[in-house]
Amino acid sequence: MEVPDRVRKQRYYDPDFYALEVELLWPRVWQMACRLEEIPRPHDFVEYEFLDQSVIVVRGDDMGVRAFQNVCRHRGVRVVAGRGTCDDGFTCPFHGWCYGLDGRNTAVTRRSTFAEHNLAPGDIDLTPVRCEVWGGCAWINLADDAPPLRQCIEPAATVLDAWKVESLRTEWWYAARLPVNWKLAEEAFVEQYHVLETHPQLRIPGRYARPGAEFDARSWVDAEIHYLRMMSEGMGGMVHANDVKVAEGLRDLDLPAGAEPAMATWHRTFNDAVTAWHRDAGGDIPDLNELEASGLNEPMGYCFPHYFVLPMYSSASSYRFRPLGPEETLMEIWSLTRFPEGEERPRPTPPEPWECDDPRWPPIPAQDFSNLPRQQRGLHARGFEYMRLSEQMEGHISNFHRTLDRFLTGLPYDQLMPALRHVNVNPLEMPIVDLDQ
Ligand code: FES
Ligand SMILES: [Fe+2]
Repeated sequence: MEVPDRVRKQRYYDPDFYALEVELLWPRVWQMACRLEEIPRPHDFVEYEFLDQSVIVVRGDDMGVRAFQNVCRHRGVRVVAGRGTCDDGFTCPFHGWCYGLDGRNTAVTRRSTFAEHNLAPGDIDLTPVRCEVWGGCAWINLADDAPPLRQCIEPAATVLDAWKVESLRTEWWYAARLPVNWKLAEEAFVEQYHVLETHPQLRIPGRYARPGAEFDARSWVDAEIHYLRMMSEGMGGMVHANDVKVAEGLRDLDLPAGAEPAMATWHRTFNDAVTAWHRDAGGDIPDLNELEASGLNEPMGYCFPHYFVLPMYSSASSYRFRPLGPEETLMEIWSLTRFPEGEERPRPTPPEPWECDDPRWPPIPAQDFSNLPRQQRGLHARGFEYMRLSEQMEGHISNFHRTLDRFLTGLPYDQLMPALRHVNVNPLEMPIVDLDQ
């Protein structure tokens, strides 16, 4: 990034640039490997794949979550595929070497036929991978010298903890195979500049009080509820249908005179009503007005480089992106909400990826996806050299690319941390900032 508000197009398709990311970014970052509800019980495991790597994430008898490189120490076969529940560990399908839940080698078939130096203790165990649990998810990092997860994703961790992100469960989980670079895919969801053009149903007259214009509280509340409904239907969640019902119940609320007091009263009452609705239902939810007062009620918790959560009142949408090649991305969306504590939920299973024009997509992601392949193709135009970013509204995209550059120049972690602190601040409101400050 030579100029902070310009992104050269080659960053989205050049194979050499992609190779740098493969080498210097992905093996050095914390990646969201699975949701904990995918491995609710001891012996449950999932395989997490990225690029040409595969990692086993498994829950032990102590409920601890551990990760290992998914490769047999004999002749390199991937030990597991997919997910499931194992007995006491894993058996390699080729010659039957066995590994325990702690990765230790527990059996070498025909042991005496090997020379001793090939069976050195410790040298035939599954190779451990850094693994941490946070925010309802298991995270992995291939770099042994990386700082702990939390340090790498602050301040998002504090924001999402205050909102009790760990209490959310999956309502649905969809995946898309997108014919675009992973950064391009992600960038379609981290700025609000596109909203009015791409999602015209969210242009709702009467939602914003104009200075000097007469304010009618009734029509403002109607517009606000209409907006919540459009978001809810458009995302198939995020603003959960339950929260929309709660808002409906407040349609006739008595409001003080004047735009600002009326809006503030309605928002405060709505926050209280959502909090109460979930608490009555036995759900674990923070007091949304306390959250607001503490300044931690952010609309986005962003964890560089590939995961984020968009909280709205009680519920959220959450996204993860993985490159499948320089111009192909696997993107997943989870719709998350709160269920009564202790309620048994089905173990979520990974979705078959849909094409970006699949009619089953909810309207808002469908609209976002409609731009993406056109943009990826547009970048190849001979007359186009770089994207020009709005300093105020697309600042995160610049901050993101300049953080990426710091990884690609191989900086040590202590020099990466200031940039990570900036890039993990709510992207929707971030201008371009000096990452070294
Ligand atoms: S490759 Fe695993 S037992 Fe031979
Ligand atoms: Fe969008």
